[in-house]
Amino acid sequence: MSLYTEITKLPRDPIIGLTELFKNDKRSTKYNLGVGVYLDENGNVPVLESVKKAAQLLYEKKDPCVYLPMVGLESFCEATKKLLFGLTYSSNVNIITTQTLGGTGALRLGAELLQRTKTVPFVAISEPSWENHRNIFESAGFKVKTYPYYDPNTNSFLFEQFLTFLKSLPKYTVVVLHANCHNPTGIDPAEEEWQEILDIIQKLDLIPFFDLAYQGFKASLKEDVSVLQTYIKFEKPFLVANSFSKNFSLYGERVGALSIFSCSHEESIKIQSHLKNIIRSLYSTPPTYGQRIVEQVLSNQKLYAIWQSEIQLMRTRITDMRNQIVKAFEEENLTSFSFIKDQHGMFSYSGLEKIHAEELRKKFGVYILDSGRICIAALNKNNLKYVTNAISAVVYKKMIQTKSF
Ligand code: LMR
Repeated sequence: MSLYTEITKLPRDPIIGLTELFKNDKRSTKYNLGVGVYLDENGNVPVLESVKKAAQLLYEKKDPCVYLPMVGLESFCEATKKLLFGLTYSSNVNIITTQTLGGTGALRLGAELLQRTKTVPFVAISEPSWENHRNIFESAGFKVKTYPYYDPNTNSFLFEQFLTFLKSLPKYTVVVLHANCHNPTGIDPAEEEWQEILDIIQKLDLIPFFDLAYQGFKASLKEDVSVLQTYIKFEKPFLVANSFSKNFSLYGERVGALSIFSCSHEESIKIQSHLKNIIRSLYSTPPTYGQRIVEQVLSNQKLYAIWQSEIQLMRTRITDMRNQIVKAFEEENLTSFSFIKDQHGMFSYSGLEKIHAEELRKKFGVYILDSGRICIAALNKNNLKYVTNAISAVVYKKMIQTKSF
């Protein structure tokens, strides 16, 4: 009997754990289409021009590396608030924006705060959802249920089923919503559907917790926050976890924010005291470098314009890859993948199964998630043919096996 006898080995993380497998793969031809990381046309994680320029400015300033306030640098939080809610709400005292360790940190911080309210019956996430959502909320002590979201037979959003589910929820249920570029399906509600969803949520006093990890990857920085701007008009409590990992290509810096809208300034003050207390118990104060870069870009018109065009470039390249992969599949006589063109963001929920994912990995060094999620943003003209050939080989093999039964 040792100290650790009672703990058992857990399975690998479905996303980050897959990257570990990928790194240990010694083959020279291998592609990681698992994790949500944008790669440029040469297969590299880009260093954005706007980020380089901001880094140069920071270098010249030579600011000392002091402890930041527990809730992060005020100018960063203010700039983030403006980016999410627009000028009209940028000085609204009922919104508190706190710097967090990426989007994950924002979700967890929000979950810890909600746990302290003792009023949330449970948390609802979509089926399917980002692989880490359940883990985050369960780790904060919540029961997590799933809501109907995606029909794999038609590759479409289960709007009516979702509404019926929402109407059955008790007051203060937290509903985790992907603000855009739903992860993993890439299927978002249409504008009119959002209106209805948000209206029911506010009428029933449910608590939406928006996860915004892909701002700029669907239509534009502005359009991709329209859902937040619609909801804020109801003046009902909600939370937003946003990440700057993808749109700044600053994955390792862990820059994100949690924004909480509450109904009064008194409530905001109480909430902030708890956020400070939670942060202090976890990591005291957030790191400085990444958020300074983001703050520089957000508050400097020239850098902001460069950043905007860089996001547009990433977005366009992903759309191009969507079109090209569908075309390449058609050349392989796989005509059933045209839905990939209708999805948004980095991913395609391909319909491939675990057995395909395992074979792709073993035989071809092509890493996709066991759920069938493929990171389209990691495709380029050099690996596209290889990847589609590999997928075609595993799909055909499965079809032949099925027929022979
Ligand atoms: C993903 O979904 O692949 C990314 O958000 C990375 C992560 O942390 O899972």
